[in-house]
Amino acid sequence: MGRIEPDDSKKNETCEGEMPSHVAIIMDGNGRWAKARHMPRIFGHNAGVEALRNIVHCAINYNIEILTIYAFSTENWRRPQDEIDGLFALLKQFVRNDLTTLHKNGVRIRIQGRREGLNNEILSLIDEAEEKTKNNNKLTLVICFNYGGQAEILDATKAIATKVLSGEIKVDEIDIETFEKHLNSAGWSHPDLIIRTAGEQRLSNFLMWQSAYSELVFTQVLWPDFETKDFEMAINEFKKRKRRFGGI
Ligand code: IPE
Ligand code: IPE
Ligand code: MG
Repeated sequence: MGRIEPDDSKKNETCEGEMPSHVAIIMDGNGRWAKARHMPRIFGHNAGVEALRNIVHCAINYNIEILTIYAFSTENWRRPQDEIDGLFALLKQFVRNDLTTLHKNGVRIRIQGRREGLNNEILSLIDEAEEKTKNNNKLTLVICFNYGGQAEILDATKAIATKVLSGEIKVDEIDIETFEKHLNSAGWSHPDLIIRTAGEQRLSNFLMWQSAYSELVFTQVLWPDFETKDFEMAINEFKKRKRRFGGI
């Protein structure tokens, strides 16, 4: 698939603000997209992968540093087994089929989430993708898979508590910086912009810690229909926002 260039003529017309360097997306609405076509839900997830490929190219073209995507939540285990199997198969397929192209385009891949619950085949694919692309610096694609913000915070808390018990850290030393070091996202910037497709206005346990000062943009567009122009609209909306981080 060819690269889709952003429409430069429109880009700076009304938007003066800075570009986001880290964009995160809650890719929602695959099931509804399939249902509207009287097709099984997995058909929507398949179409969602196509939309993702395009948005990765957009992010590269826009010089976005980090694109984080929510692919499978710790709560998505509540879905029927055949849908879970389908989503796992899609992740495997995406990593296997797209790895060469992503690597060629300078994409660094990171998978964020709990490793427990993932089988060895997926784990070794993830390790291979991360290892192969670790020196790329055009775009970092963070795939949140088996990810939950609360699980991430709990895991960090347990790791810190263990260090307190062993005397490695003192209670008074636990500050924001220390806490962040124990998160999956340690060392990475927080998302400037979080986009959620398909109309729901909630985070659904996505990046609970890191979203503290993210700008949120919601769109009715279902994820498989999310195109370059929708990405541009979200970026333009972001550029109009005034970020204050608690200041004035
Ligand atoms: C998002 O689409 C993909 C995942 C959660 C894995 P959904 O499957 O949630 O689609 P809807 O919300 O049912 O339409
Ligand atoms: C959030 O979507 C998870 C992903 C996009 C992977 P859900 O469809 O699971 O969220 P809820 O259930 O509508 O809150
Ligand atoms: Mg959903």
